[in-house]
Amino acid sequence: MQISPSILSADFANLQDELAAIRNADWAHVDVMDAHFVPNLTLGLPVVESLLSVSPIPIDCHLMIEDPDRWAPPYAEAGAGSVTFHIEAAADPRRLARDIRAAGARASMAIKPGTPFAPYEDLLPELDMVLVMTVEPGFGGQSFMADMMPKVREVREAVGRHGGEIWVQVDGGVSAATIEQCAEAGADVFVAGSAVYGADDPALAVDDLRRLANAHAC
Ligand code: DX5
Ligand code: ZN
Repeated sequence: MQISPSILSADFANLQDELAAIRNADWAHVDVMDAHFVPNLTLGLPVVESLLSVSPIPIDCHLMIEDPDRWAPPYAEAGAGSVTFHIEAAADPRRLARDIRAAGARASMAIKPGTPFAPYEDLLPELDMVLVMTVEPGFGGQSFMADMMPKVREVREAVGRHGGEIWVQVDGGVSAATIEQCAEAGADVFVAGSAVYGADDPALAVDDLRRLANAHAC
């Protein structure tokens, strides 16, 4: 069970300190938004390169961008440990996943709430993780969509049939109140933004979330 705090809810003027505050987490989740694939705009490759140079833990890049076929592999080349593209934006996802792996990162596919998983199951051999969004991508602090849990179960079952080590990530509205149902449904990597950076002690929040997830592993 791994916890990946989203720095979208951190203080953008102090990102180095904000990364140090979650050094007990497994990953630092970095949300790249381009104001086209999603309505919001965050940060891009130059900032990610700077974060990589100071982060005490590996970086999990969630790319909410158009044309990931072109723009995602450079994040892997820069040293991100995991690079997630959205299937809704990818022109040739098989080739893209291969490019990400060839550049040295784990390759991950994200699916929005309205996107079914089944049509993409045949991509699993190319993937190291599937991200099931539990909010519409674009903003932190939104309400958790419990109705995505059947999709998490579906992905977990497909991953079980496929074999190999493919992680199932959830992102959006994950907190102490919602992480248990995610774990029970089969998620094993949990992104949490406001639940971690909104807490008085982010490191304690990470430990609490991990303990709850472990207690409810499927
Ligand atoms: C939303 C982002 C999330 C976001 C999660 O589009 O992908 O990573 O930061 O924030 P919370 O945990 O506050 O829902
Ligand atoms: Zn995210």
